Amino acid sequence: MLNHDSLPAHPSPLPCFSLRQGDAVDWLRAIPAASLDLVITDPPYESLEKHRAVGTTTRLKHSKASSNDWFKIFPNARFGELFAEVYRVLKKNTHFYLFCDHETGFHAKPIAEAAGFRFWKPLIWDKKRIGMGYHYRARYEFILFFEKGKRRLNDLSIPDIIEAPRIHRGYPTEKPVEVSEILVEQSSQHGDVVADPFCGSGSAGVAAVHHGRHFLGNDICAEALEITRERLLTAGAKDRVPAPFQ
Ligand SMILES: C[S@@+](CC[C@H](N)C(=O)[O-])C[C@H]1O[C@@H](n2cnc3c(N)ncnc32)[C@H](O)[C@@H]1O
Repeated sequence: MLNHDSLPAHPSPLPCFSLRQGDAVDWLRAIPAASLDLVITDPPYESLEKHRAVGTTTRLKHSKASSNDWFKIFPNARFGELFAEVYRVLKKNTHFYLFCDHETGFHAKPIAEAAGFRFWKPLIWDKKRIGMGYHYRARYEFILFFEKGKRRLNDLSIPDIIEAPRIHRGYPTEKPVEVSEILVEQSSQHGDVVADPFCGSGSAGVAAVHHGRHFLGNDICAEALEITRERLLTAGAKDRVPAPFQ
Protein backbone atom coordinates (compact mmCIF):
# COMPACT_ATOMS: atom_id res chain seq x y z
CA MET A 1 0.00 0.00 0.00
CA LEU A 2 2.61 2.53 1.04
CA ASN A 3 5.52 3.72 -1.00
CA HIS A 4 8.72 3.43 1.02
CA ASP A 5 11.08 4.70 -1.68
CA SER A 6 12.01 8.08 -0.29
CA LEU A 7 12.09 7.31 3.41
CA PRO A 8 15.06 8.35 5.52
CA ALA A 9 16.75 5.73 7.68
CA HIS A 10 15.75 7.39 10.96
CA PRO A 11 12.05 8.16 11.43
CA SER A 12 11.22 11.60 12.78
CA PRO A 13 9.73 11.99 16.27
CA LEU A 14 7.28 14.49 14.73
CA PRO A 15 3.86 13.21 13.73
CA CYS A 16 3.91 11.84 10.19
CA PHE A 17 1.14 11.29 7.71
CA SER A 18 0.50 9.41 4.52
CA LEU A 19 -2.43 10.06 2.17
CA ARG A 20 -3.85 7.96 -0.63
CA GLN A 21 -6.60 8.42 -3.19
CA GLY A 22 -9.08 5.61 -3.80
CA ASP A 23 -12.03 3.68 -2.55
CA ALA A 24 -12.08 3.36 1.24
CA VAL A 25 -12.57 -0.42 1.29
CA ASP A 26 -9.85 -1.03 -1.30
CA TRP A 27 -7.50 1.16 0.72
CA LEU A 28 -8.23 -0.69 3.94
CA ARG A 29 -7.68 -4.04 2.21
CA ALA A 30 -4.08 -3.02 1.49
CA ILE A 31 -3.33 -2.30 5.18
CA PRO A 32 -1.88 -5.16 7.25
CA ALA A 33 -4.15 -6.77 9.83
CA ALA A 34 -4.00 -5.51 13.43
CA SER A 35 -1.83 -2.51 12.56
CA LEU A 36 -3.88 0.61 13.45
CA ASP A 37 -4.50 2.07 16.89
CA LEU A 38 -7.67 4.04 16.17
CA VAL A 39 -10.10 4.64 13.30
CA ILE A 40 -12.27 7.76 13.20
CA THR A 41 -14.34 8.15 10.06
CA ASP A 42 -17.24 9.94 8.47
CA PRO A 43 -18.56 8.29 5.30
CA PRO A 44 -20.93 10.19 3.00
CA TYR A 45 -23.96 8.23 4.15
CA GLU A 46 -26.88 7.19 2.00
CA SER A 47 -29.49 9.22 3.86
CA LEU A 48 -27.81 12.39 2.55
CA GLU A 49 -29.48 11.54 -0.76
CA LYS A 50 -32.83 11.86 0.93
CA HIS A 51 -31.96 15.28 2.34
CA ARG A 52 -30.75 16.38 -1.08
CA ALA A 53 -33.87 15.03 -2.77
CA VAL A 54 -36.07 17.33 -0.68
CA GLY A 55 -33.78 20.23 -1.38
CA THR A 56 -32.52 20.92 2.11
CA THR A 57 -28.87 20.67 1.11
CA THR A 58 -28.99 22.77 -2.03
CA ARG A 59 -26.33 25.06 -0.69
CA LEU A 60 -23.88 22.13 -0.71
CA LYS A 61 -24.44 21.03 -4.29
CA HIS A 62 -21.59 23.01 -5.76
CA SER A 63 -18.85 22.07 -3.44
CA LYS A 64 -15.10 22.20 -3.19
CA ALA A 65 -15.18 18.41 -3.44
CA SER A 66 -16.18 18.25 -7.08
CA SER A 67 -16.72 20.38 -10.13
CA ASN A 68 -20.49 19.99 -10.14
CA ASP A 69 -22.38 17.71 -7.77
CA TRP A 70 -21.66 17.05 -4.16
CA PHE A 71 -19.61 13.94 -3.41
CA LYS A 72 -21.12 10.53 -4.07
CA ILE A 73 -22.68 8.68 -1.18
CA PHE A 74 -21.30 5.46 0.26
CA PRO A 75 -24.29 3.05 0.20
CA ASN A 76 -25.45 1.33 3.38
CA ALA A 77 -25.20 -1.94 1.40
CA ARG A 78 -21.40 -1.57 1.57
CA PHE A 79 -21.22 -1.24 5.37
CA GLY A 80 -20.58 -4.99 5.76
CA GLU A 81 -17.35 -4.92 3.76
CA LEU A 82 -16.31 -1.58 5.27
CA PHE A 83 -16.73 -2.64 8.91
CA ALA A 84 -15.13 -6.04 8.30
CA GLU A 85 -12.04 -4.24 7.00
CA VAL A 86 -11.99 -1.65 9.79
CA TYR A 87 -12.19 -4.50 12.30
CA ARG A 88 -9.38 -6.40 10.59
CA VAL A 89 -6.92 -3.48 10.43
CA LEU A 90 -7.43 -2.36 14.03
CA LYS A 91 -5.18 -3.80 16.70
CA LYS A 92 -6.71 -5.77 19.54
CA ASN A 93 -8.17 -3.53 22.28
CA THR A 94 -8.90 -0.44 20.22
CA HIS A 95 -11.78 1.90 19.45
CA PHE A 96 -13.64 2.85 16.28
CA TYR A 97 -15.76 6.01 15.92
CA LEU A 98 -18.28 6.49 13.10
CA PHE A 99 -19.86 9.89 12.47
CA CYS A 100 -23.40 9.50 11.10
CA ASP A 101 -26.98 10.72 11.36
CA HIS A 102 -29.66 8.93 13.38
CA GLU A 103 -31.00 7.07 10.33
CA THR A 104 -27.61 5.68 9.31
CA GLY A 105 -26.86 4.85 12.92
CA PHE A 106 -29.70 2.30 13.02
CA HIS A 107 -28.34 0.61 9.88
CA ALA A 108 -24.71 0.70 10.90
CA LYS A 109 -24.91 -0.62 14.47
CA PRO A 110 -25.96 -4.25 13.78
CA ILE A 111 -23.62 -4.52 10.79
CA ALA A 112 -20.64 -3.35 12.83
CA GLU A 113 -21.61 -5.75 15.62
CA ALA A 114 -21.74 -8.59 13.08
CA ALA A 115 -18.20 -7.63 12.04
CA GLY A 116 -17.07 -8.22 15.63
CA PHE A 117 -17.32 -4.83 17.29
CA ARG A 118 -18.93 -4.16 20.63
CA PHE A 119 -21.26 -1.15 20.42
CA TRP A 120 -21.12 1.08 23.48
CA LYS A 121 -23.31 4.07 22.67
CA PRO A 122 -23.86 6.94 20.30
CA LEU A 123 -21.99 10.05 21.38
CA ILE A 124 -23.79 13.24 20.50
CA TRP A 125 -22.05 16.03 18.67
CA ASP A 126 -24.11 19.07 19.69
CA LYS A 127 -23.66 21.71 16.99
CA LYS A 128 -25.02 24.33 19.39
CA ARG A 129 -27.30 25.93 16.75
CA ILE A 130 -30.18 24.56 14.71
CA GLY A 131 -29.71 23.52 11.10
CA MET A 132 -31.76 21.71 8.44
CA GLY A 133 -35.05 19.86 8.78
CA TYR A 134 -38.74 20.51 9.36
CA HIS A 135 -39.59 17.92 12.02
CA TYR A 136 -37.53 19.43 14.82
CA ARG A 137 -34.58 21.29 13.36
CA ALA A 138 -31.33 19.32 13.35
CA ARG A 139 -28.84 20.31 16.01
CA TYR A 140 -26.92 17.11 16.64
CA GLU A 141 -25.16 14.26 14.90
CA PHE A 142 -24.26 10.81 16.17
CA ILE A 143 -20.77 9.46 16.64
CA LEU A 144 -21.17 5.71 17.13
CA PHE A 145 -18.64 4.41 19.64
CA PHE A 146 -17.39 0.85 18.99
CA GLU A 147 -14.75 -1.31 20.63
CA LYS A 148 -12.59 -4.18 19.40
CA GLY A 149 -11.55 -6.28 22.39
CA LYS A 150 -11.44 -4.26 25.61
CA ARG A 151 -9.97 -0.82 26.05
CA ARG A 152 -10.38 1.73 28.82
CA LEU A 153 -11.00 5.34 27.84
CA ASN A 154 -8.15 7.60 28.92
CA ASP A 155 -10.40 10.00 30.87
CA LEU A 156 -13.54 8.60 32.48
CA SER A 157 -14.92 12.06 33.28
CA ILE A 158 -15.68 13.06 29.66
CA PRO A 159 -19.43 13.34 28.93
CA ASP A 160 -21.21 11.70 25.98
CA ILE A 161 -22.33 15.03 24.57
CA ILE A 162 -19.57 16.94 22.78
CA GLU A 163 -20.35 20.58 22.11
CA ALA A 164 -18.74 22.33 19.13
CA PRO A 165 -20.23 24.78 16.62
CA ARG A 166 -20.71 23.50 13.09
CA ILE A 167 -18.19 24.66 10.47
CA HIS A 168 -19.42 27.37 8.12
CA ARG A 169 -18.17 27.62 4.55
CA GLY A 170 -15.72 24.76 4.97
CA TYR A 171 -15.43 21.48 3.11
CA PRO A 172 -18.90 19.90 2.70
CA THR A 173 -19.90 18.29 6.01
CA GLU A 174 -16.55 19.23 7.54
CA LYS A 175 -16.34 18.21 11.18
CA PRO A 176 -14.80 20.45 13.84
CA VAL A 177 -11.27 19.38 14.78
CA GLU A 178 -12.08 19.78 18.48
CA VAL A 179 -14.67 16.97 18.29
CA SER A 180 -12.14 14.50 16.89
CA GLU A 181 -9.54 15.77 19.37
CA ILE A 182 -11.65 14.41 22.21
CA LEU A 183 -11.90 11.02 20.45
CA VAL A 184 -8.15 10.95 19.80
CA GLU A 185 -7.31 11.88 23.39
CA GLN A 186 -9.74 9.36 24.80
CA SER A 187 -8.77 6.36 22.68
CA SER A 188 -5.09 6.56 21.71
CA GLN A 189 -1.62 7.33 23.01
CA HIS A 190 1.20 9.59 21.84
CA GLY A 191 2.92 8.01 18.80
CA ASP A 192 -0.09 5.86 17.86
CA VAL A 193 -1.43 5.63 14.31
CA VAL A 194 -4.91 7.05 13.65
CA ALA A 195 -6.64 6.41 10.32
CA ASP A 196 -9.58 7.83 8.39
CA PRO A 197 -10.62 6.03 5.15
CA PHE A 198 -13.01 8.90 4.17
CA CYS A 199 -10.84 11.77 5.35
CA GLY A 200 -12.48 14.66 3.45
CA SER A 201 -10.68 17.83 4.51
CA GLY A 202 -8.67 15.88 7.10
CA SER A 203 -10.24 17.05 10.37
CA ALA A 204 -9.55 13.75 12.13
CA GLY A 205 -5.96 13.88 10.88
CA VAL A 206 -5.42 17.39 12.19
CA ALA A 207 -6.81 16.27 15.56
CA ALA A 208 -4.43 13.30 15.57
CA VAL A 209 -1.41 15.44 14.73
CA HIS A 210 -2.30 18.06 17.36
CA HIS A 211 -1.90 15.29 19.93
CA GLY A 212 1.28 13.71 18.61
CA ARG A 213 -0.34 10.81 16.77
CA HIS A 214 0.50 9.75 13.22
CA PHE A 215 -2.17 9.76 10.55
CA LEU A 216 -3.11 7.61 7.56
CA GLY A 217 -5.80 9.13 5.37
CA ASN A 218 -7.68 8.20 2.24
CA ASP A 219 -10.37 9.82 0.11
CA ILE A 220 -11.73 9.16 -3.33
CA CYS A 221 -11.46 12.85 -4.21
CA ALA A 222 -8.13 14.44 -5.15
CA GLU A 223 -9.16 17.90 -4.00
CA ALA A 224 -10.05 16.59 -0.55
CA LEU A 225 -6.56 15.14 -0.26
CA GLU A 226 -4.94 18.42 -1.29
CA ILE A 227 -6.87 20.23 1.44
CA THR A 228 -5.96 17.54 3.97
CA ARG A 229 -2.29 17.68 3.04
CA GLU A 230 -2.14 21.47 3.47
CA ARG A 231 -3.87 21.28 6.82
CA LEU A 232 -1.60 18.53 8.13
CA LEU A 233 1.54 20.37 7.03
CA THR A 234 0.25 23.55 8.70
CA ALA A 235 -0.38 21.52 11.85
CA GLY A 236 3.31 20.59 11.85
CA ALA A 237 3.21 17.02 10.56
CA LYS A 238 5.64 15.52 8.06
CA ASP A 239 4.43 14.00 4.79
CA ARG A 240 6.15 10.68 5.39
CA VAL A 241 4.94 7.16 6.04
CA PRO A 242 4.61 6.72 9.83
CA ALA A 243 7.41 4.64 11.36
CA PRO A 244 5.24 1.63 12.28
CA PHE A 245 4.52 1.20 8.54
CA GLN A 246 8.09 1.55 7.29
C1 LIG B 1 -18.59 13.31 4.94
S1 LIG B 1 -17.15 13.62 3.99
C2 LIG B 1 -15.85 13.60 5.19
C3 LIG B 1 -15.69 14.95 5.85
C4 LIG B 1 -14.55 14.98 6.86
N1 LIG B 1 -14.90 14.29 8.07
C5 LIG B 1 -14.13 16.39 7.16
O1 LIG B 1 -14.20 16.81 8.33
O2 LIG B 1 -13.76 17.10 6.22
C6 LIG B 1 -16.99 12.08 3.18
C7 LIG B 1 -15.82 11.97 2.21
O3 LIG B 1 -15.84 10.65 1.64
C8 LIG B 1 -15.34 10.72 0.32
N2 LIG B 1 -15.78 9.51 -0.38
C9 LIG B 1 -16.94 9.26 -1.03
N3 LIG B 1 -16.98 7.99 -1.45
C10 LIG B 1 -15.81 7.42 -1.07
C11 LIG B 1 -15.27 6.11 -1.20
N4 LIG B 1 -15.94 5.12 -1.79
N5 LIG B 1 -14.04 5.89 -0.68
C12 LIG B 1 -13.34 6.87 -0.07
N6 LIG B 1 -13.82 8.13 0.08
C13 LIG B 1 -15.04 8.39 -0.40
C14 LIG B 1 -15.86 12.04 -0.22
O4 LIG B 1 -15.02 12.51 -1.26
C15 LIG B 1 -15.82 12.93 1.03
O5 LIG B 1 -14.64 13.68 1.07
